[in-house]
Amino acid sequence: MYTELKRGSAKMAVIGLGYVGLPLALEFAKKFKVIGFDINPGVIEKLNNKIDPAGEIEPEKFEGIDIEFTSNPDDLKDINFYIVAVPTPIDEHRQPDLGPLLSACSLVGKYLKKGDYVVFESTVYPGCTEEDCVPVMERESGLKYIQDFKVGYSPERINPGDKVHTLTNVVKITSGCDSESSEEIARVYEEIVEAGIYRAASIRVAEAAKIIENTQRDVNIAIMNEFSRMFNYLGINTYDVIDAAATKWNFLKFSPGLVGGHCIGVDPYYLIFKARQYGYEPHLLTAARALNDDMGFYVANNIIKLLAKNNLPVAGANVLVLGITFKENVSDIRNSKVADIISELKEYNVNVQVVDPKADPQEVEKEYGITLDNQIRQDYYDAIVVAVNHNEFREFTELDFKNMLKSGKGLLIDVKGIYRNKVKSLPYWSL
Ligand SMILES: NC(=O)c1ccc[n+]([C@@H]2O[C@H](COP(=O)([O-])OP(=O)(O)OC[C@H]3O[C@@H](n4cnc5c(N)ncnc54)[C@H](O)[C@@H]3O)[C@@H](O)[C@H]2O)c1
Repeated sequence: MYTELKRGSAKMAVIGLGYVGLPLALEFAKKFKVIGFDINPGVIEKLNNKIDPAGEIEPEKFEGIDIEFTSNPDDLKDINFYIVAVPTPIDEHRQPDLGPLLSACSLVGKYLKKGDYVVFESTVYPGCTEEDCVPVMERESGLKYIQDFKVGYSPERINPGDKVHTLTNVVKITSGCDSESSEEIARVYEEIVEAGIYRAASIRVAEAAKIIENTQRDVNIAIMNEFSRMFNYLGINTYDVIDAAATKWNFLKFSPGLVGGHCIGVDPYYLIFKARQYGYEPHLLTAARALNDDMGFYVANNIIKLLAKNNLPVAGANVLVLGITFKENVSDIRNSKVADIISELKEYNVNVQVVDPKADPQEVEKEYGITLDNQIRQDYYDAIVVAVNHNEFREFTELDFKNMLKSGKGLLIDVKGIYRNKVKSLPYWSL
C-alpha cells in the first residue's frame, strides 16, 4: 500500500476535515494524492477558498499540494487508503455517541474494495475500532476483515492553539490489524511525521494509549482543582503553592482550571463506559470528572460570595467576563465551562457582558444564547472575570482594570492566576 501511494497508483481520502482531519489531509497531500471529504458542504466551500473554518491554518498551506475537497460520496470510489477523523462526542447522559463514527464507517463500507486500508484517528475506547467499526464496514461492503481489507488506528496528538507541538514534530502512534498492515501504515505516516512513529502492539493498545493520555491530564487537573478548593478555605493562593512545590524534581506541575472542550472533558467518559461494561467502576476517574465538571459553578458561587463580602451588589451587578472559548488562543467554544460561570451568575440576576475576540459571535449565540459584546466599558463594572487567558487579555494592568470598574472599585476574578503578582489593591481571587 505504501509503495502504491508513493507511486500515485493508490489514492488516500481523509474523512472529516476538522481540527484533526484538515492538517493531516494537507500534510499527506504534499506526498500523496488526497481527497478531503467532509459531510458539511459549508466546510468544503471554505476549504476550496483556502479558509480553515477553525482559523488555525494559513491559506498558503493549501497551495502546491495534491488535494481535492469534496462532500460528494461518489468521489470516494477510487480510494484505497482511508483515514477517518470524525467527532466522537458524548450524549446528554455522558455516554459515547458513536453516531458520526459509525456513519463514516457505513460511508467508507459502501466504497470499500479488496486490498483497501482504513485507519481511524478519532478518539475511542479500547476495542471500538474492531468491535464497533469493523462490523459496520463488513456489512456495508460484504468484504471480510483482514482477509479482504485492513484496518489500523493512529491516535491524534495535536493540541489546538499550540504552534510548538504539531502533527509533524510529535512522535505518532500507529497500529494495524496484522503485522503487514502495521508496517505499511507506519511507513505511510513516516512520510509526514518527522519526529517518527511508535508502532503500538495492537489496535487496542493504540486506542488505550490515546485515551489514557487525556484521562491522565483530566485526573491531574482534578487534583489541582481539589487543592484549590481546599486552599480557598485556608486563604492560600494555589498557584503560589504549586510554584513552591514544583521546585521538587518529581512534583507534577499541573494547574487548576476549567476543563472544557471536546477532548480532556469528554474522552474519560469513553474509558469509564468501557470499564463499566466489564463491571469495573473506575472511581478515581468518575470523581475527577465530577470535580472538573463542577468548576464553572464553583467559580460563579465564589464570585457571588465575594460581591456580597465586599458590599457590592449581587442582583443587578454588572460583571464583565473576558473569554468564552474552552481554552486560550483558540476559537473553539464547544463544551466551554465559562458558559457554566455565566449561567450560574445569571441565576442571581447578575448582568453579564461577555467579551471574546477569538470566538465567533454567531456560534456563541447559537450554542449558548449569549450575545458577545466586545466593547469594554469604562467606570462600569462591579466585577471583572478573566476566564480565559487569551493573549489579548494578558497585557491588562491593575490600572486598566480599575478604569473599567465602577468608581475604580470592584473585584478582579483571575481564574488562571495570570495577574497574581501584578494586582496590589483590588480585591482579587484566583483558583
Ligand atoms: N481537536 C483536537 O485537538 C483533537 C486531538 C486529538 C484527537 N481528537 C479526536 O479527533 C476526532 C475529530 O476531532 P476534531 O476536533 O477534528 O473534530 P471537528 O469537529 O473539528 O471536525 C470533525 C469534522 O468531521 C465532519 N464530519 C462529521 N461527521 C462526518 C461523517 N459522518 N463523514 C464525514 N465527515 C464528518 C464534521 O463536519 C467536521 O468538519 C475526535 O474523535 C476527537 O476526539 C481531537
